[in-house]
Amino acid sequence: MKPGPSLMRHYLQFKDLRAEEYAYLFERAHIIKTRFKNYERYQPLVDRTLAMIFEKASTRTRVSFEAGMYQMGGSVVHLTTGDSQLGRAEPAEDSARVISRMVDIVMIRTYEQSMLERFAAHSRVPVINGLTNEYHPCQILADIFTFIEHRGDIQGKVVAWVGDGNNMANTWLQAAEILGFTVHVSTPSGYEIDPAVAGVRDTGCYKLFNHPMQACEGAHLVTTDVWTSMGYEAENEERRKAFVDWCVDDEMMAVARPDALFMHCLPAHRGEEVTAEVIDGPQSVVWDEAENRMHAQKALMEYLLLGRIG
Ligand code: CP
Ligand code: NVA
Repeated sequence: MKPGPSLMRHYLQFKDLRAEEYAYLFERAHIIKTRFKNYERYQPLVDRTLAMIFEKASTRTRVSFEAGMYQMGGSVVHLTTGDSQLGRAEPAEDSARVISRMVDIVMIRTYEQSMLERFAAHSRVPVINGLTNEYHPCQILADIFTFIEHRGDIQGKVVAWVGDGNNMANTWLQAAEILGFTVHVSTPSGYEIDPAVAGVRDTGCYKLFNHPMQACEGAHLVTTDVWTSMGYEAENEERRKAFVDWCVDDEMMAVARPDALFMHCLPAHRGEEVTAEVIDGPQSVVWDEAENRMHAQKALMEYLLLGRIG
């Protein structure tokens, strides 16, 4: 019998999975990564096809999904707005109906979350959020896997978010609510997280600080992101002024715990949201974080397509 989950699941937000499912995924990501490092072939997705739809640029998301799918024995179709009918106003609903009759799983990077949701509502196969204006769940999946590898369980820990109240920040809040840690948030005025967009019920999972130094105090992990996310480029100059004090530097790392890690989803702008000393320094785990996108997403695709193994 062909294996498969009894109920199709999408991964559109971090809160689409439960804590015990994350525990399972982190275990699977570890097993899959270990096999990969040992050059052991693992191909549970032979004959499965992933369609990747990119309406925004990408390096890590594309390479990690594409390489990961091939390594698991499957194949990949890569579409962009410029080379598909999506760029010529074919509705997301129609695209979903067509694409999902031909492939087994879809990853989408787009602007509004509502486009992803419309696509998923008309898809016959699982849909994964590869970044929207609102959320970036695959990144946080990899980030927490990376934290666990370096420091163990994230439950009860403090994550400092320094910078924009953006898709990454929203997703960190969702993760904190589900996995039981706290996010200390410091954003410039006017760039706060919108709790309604973040969609968290448990207000205890985050605390707001005016100054980024306060947010970093005692943190187990300090993390940030670009000042201007994709799609907001028109605000670039205004943001450069507003964010000037939200640059993670040695002073901020010095008030965090001595064993604090630094993470950044990348791409990074040294001298803007983070100094070169911090991102290239001993507390930074950004390269593990980037690599772990692939291992974590292989575990995610395996789970969405095959359910629990064993
Ligand atoms: N972090 C991340 O999603 O990187 P890309 O934009 O390169 O995919
Ligand atoms: N917040 C950034 C993340 C890039 C991976 C953006 O949306 O552009």
